[in-house]
Amino acid sequence: MTEKRRLGSAGPRVFPVGLGCMPMSLEGRPDEAASARVILAALEAGVELLDTADAYCIDEGEMGHNERLVARALREWPERERVVVATKGGLRRPGGGYAHDGRPEYLAAACERSLRALGVERIDLYYLHAPDERVPFADSLGALARLREQGKIRLAGVSNVDAAQLTSALDTLPIACVQNRASPFHPQGLEDGVLALCEREELAFVAHSPVGGWQAGRIAHEPLLQELASALGATCHQVAIAWLLARSRSLIPIPGASRIRSAEGSAAAAGLRLPPEAVSRIDRHYGEPAS
Ligand SMILES: NC(=O)c1ccc[n+]([C@@H]2O[C@H](COP(=O)([O-])OP(=O)(O)OC[C@H]3O[C@@H](n4cnc5c(N)ncnc54)[C@H](OP(=O)(O)O)[C@@H]3O)[C@@H](O)[C@H]2O)c1
Repeated sequence: MTEKRRLGSAGPRVFPVGLGCMPMSLEGRPDEAASARVILAALEAGVELLDTADAYCIDEGEMGHNERLVARALREWPERERVVVATKGGLRRPGGGYAHDGRPEYLAAACERSLRALGVERIDLYYLHAPDERVPFADSLGALARLREQGKIRLAGVSNVDAAQLTSALDTLPIACVQNRASPFHPQGLEDGVLALCEREELAFVAHSPVGGWQAGRIAHEPLLQELASALGATCHQVAIAWLLARSRSLIPIPGASRIRSAEGSAAAAGLRLPPEAVSRIDRHYGEPAS
């Protein structure tokens, strides 16, 4: 049986691979019924962590699109209490672009909207989407702390932070998870001190864009991953996910999907054991600066 991983020392244990729901709300997305089927297929395959955000949508006019999709799929899922839904606030989509907004009053209002979009009284896990350089980080963290005290969120997390920012977050409120980028194309996400801090403080490091994010199309054409994948009877995507899982027990990758095949393939990577030699070869190959 696949060993679960904890969402922070006070959080529940979940299946080690989550589902990134973002691709189901951006340009080129499937229709809503098809997206609900993708989410249900991931849950069927064992996934227990769904990652969403209010800002996963085409533009400001449909904020909450992805949260509503998740809520819709979960209405058809009999074991809702087994699923952790993580969402985020602090990013706006003016004109379809991206703008940080970490003002406490904005975060308080964004959390209310997320509660409504998800149809819940308390959010399982709520992240500050990213620090806003125009707002003191302590003020944004204070807003998260208040939401927790008010019972509107169960667990708090921070995303796109460096080690210094994580340290100050930990000084302000109990943090369960950090969500930062990490993939073979971005191995520095595992080396900048944040993962080490997560391991020491027993937080989960939730890896976003684990198969490359906007570069995901590249991963199936990587010769080293192709070689390892064919030796293991797996896909390059699965090798990338298994590599992350092997790098640390604190790591929980959340590969995105807009197709059932991707969601099922990623969940199956939880059962793939990479030999230590394969892990070191990926480390060396992608860890070395390109010449
Ligand atoms: N905190 C943040 O700032 C932040 C930033 C970016 C992303 N995220 C979160 O992290 C999640 C993952 O990142 P991402 O979606 O940008 O990038 P990703 O997971 O690196 O790549 C996603 C794309 O790769 C394909 N894919 C994934 N697993 C596959 C598999 N096993 N086999 C074949 N294809 C596979 C999917 O294609 P199909 O669409 O064709 O299925 C998907 O669209 C997001 O969905 C979001 O929830 C957070």
